[in-house]
Parts: sequence; structure tokens; C-alpha cells
Amino acid sequence: MSVTIKSEQELEKMREAGRILAIVHDEMAKIIRPGISTMDINRKGEEVIRSFDCIPSFLNYNGYPASICISVNDEVVHGIPNKKRILQEGDIVSLDAGVIYQGYHSDAARTHAVGEISEDDRFLMEITKQSFFEGIKYAHAGNHLFEISKAIQDFVESNGFSVVRDLVGHGIGKKLHEEPQVPNFKPIGRGMKLRPGMTLAIEPMVNAGAYEVWVLEDDWTVVTRDSKKSAHYENTILITDGEPELFTYQEDLV
Ligand code: MF3
Ligand code: CO
Repeated sequence: MSVTIKSEQELEKMREAGRILAIVHDEMAKIIRPGISTMDINRKGEEVIRSFDCIPSFLNYNGYPASICISVNDEVVHGIPNKKRILQEGDIVSLDAGVIYQGYHSDAARTHAVGEISEDDRFLMEITKQSFFEGIKYAHAGNHLFEISKAIQDFVESNGFSVVRDLVGHGIGKKLHEEPQVPNFKPIGRGMKLRPGMTLAIEPMVNAGAYEVWVLEDDWTVVTRDSKKSAHYENTILITDGEPELFTYQEDLV
């Protein structure tokens, strides 16, 4: 299947899917503290998703066994919630969630501090979030896709970190993963031309050390090879002729 341009009726559903997901993240953020388990966060996230009559899109996706991906410290993405995994002061924890509202998807990720964290880890989290906003400066109709990728990579690397290569952002809509792939590094070429009505999940994954990752024995959890920390930040956005519209981000929420 190729890239889809969404109709206004479809966009209304995606906006609502996004609005709800921002609230889901905000509610999960409120319970994060030392002593809770990653399963507690998963339970909270799923409860809020279902309270809006939405479906947690990750649950059973390719066999993924939970509603929220929860990745701690050197875990990059796709960590599996576990009641024995207790968050400790000084951890950083990435929460990735997706919802389906009336058949349409939204997808977003945030990385949070657990209690007091080091200055270095705070900086990693801030650069990761900021790299998303640097990237979307280029997310306008008429620009080319890899301008976004290049802006993310340049910003991350100029701050001394690296972008993960093995996982990328994606188109989103009736399906969680649609075309095109949205790398956080610049491939050869300039990528497709952006058009109004394209909806993208842009999601920099930033490593404090080297970019290489591998997958644990559980076949899901992606970790850094050098065991240094990693952060993740993602929003679902709409390409327009002007500024992109952010479906999963609200100024007053996380
Ligand atoms: N949020 C992830 C992405 O953007 C999807 C999680 S994989 C799943 O691709 F299996 F957990 F759904
Ligand atoms: Co995504």
C-alpha cells in the first residue's frame, strides 16, 4: 500500500484519537515515582484508554503482550511491562502508547524521570524531545521527508548523542504502521514530497552512547549495545500547507 491522504472526516477521528492519547500520557505521568512497577503503569494506561471507549493498539500487535511499551534506562523501546520491574530513583522511563478511536490510530511516546535524576540524563531527555521539534520545523507540504530526518539527526549529533538506525517513524491512520517510513537519520536521497493530509508518527530514539541496539531474549525489548541510556519522544502529526498540526501534544499536558 502507498501513502494515504486523509479526508477531513478521517482527520476528525485522528484528532480525537490524538487528543485522548495526550490525556492517557498525562495520566500515566502522574503516577510515576520510585516504587511502582512497570505493570502498574500499563494498567493505568489501559484503564484510561478504555475509559474513552478506545482500544489499546499495541495489545496483541504482532503478539506484543501489553497495552503500553515501557522501556527503562538502556532499554530503547518495546519493553514489556512486568509487576516485578520496580522503578528506582534515578531511572528514566520511556512510555509508548497507541489508541484506536473509531477505527483510526494515534501513537505517541514520552520519557520521564523517576524521582531525582542526573544532569546528564535530564539533558538526554531534553535533547530527545527538542529533536522532535527541530524535525517538524521541516514538516510542511512541499518539503521532502528526509529534511525532517536530517534535522533530527543533526540536532542530536551536534549535542553529542546518537540516533537509533534500526527503528523508524511511520505513516499512521487506519493502520498503526503505514507508509512512508520516517527515519531519524538522513538516508541517501531526499525522500518523498510531503503533501497536505499526510499523517506521520515522528519518533526520535536517542542514545547517550553509540547508536547500535539489540533485542533481548524476550524478542521484544530493544536495548543499547553499550548499555548506556536511551530516550524516546513521539507525536502523531498532520502535514498541512502551513505549520504541522500535532494531534497528540497539548501545551498543558506532558
Ligand atoms: N509505538 C511503536 C511504533 O511506533 C509500536 C509499538 S510495537 C507494539 O512503532 F508491538 F508494541 F505495538
Ligand atoms: Co510509532
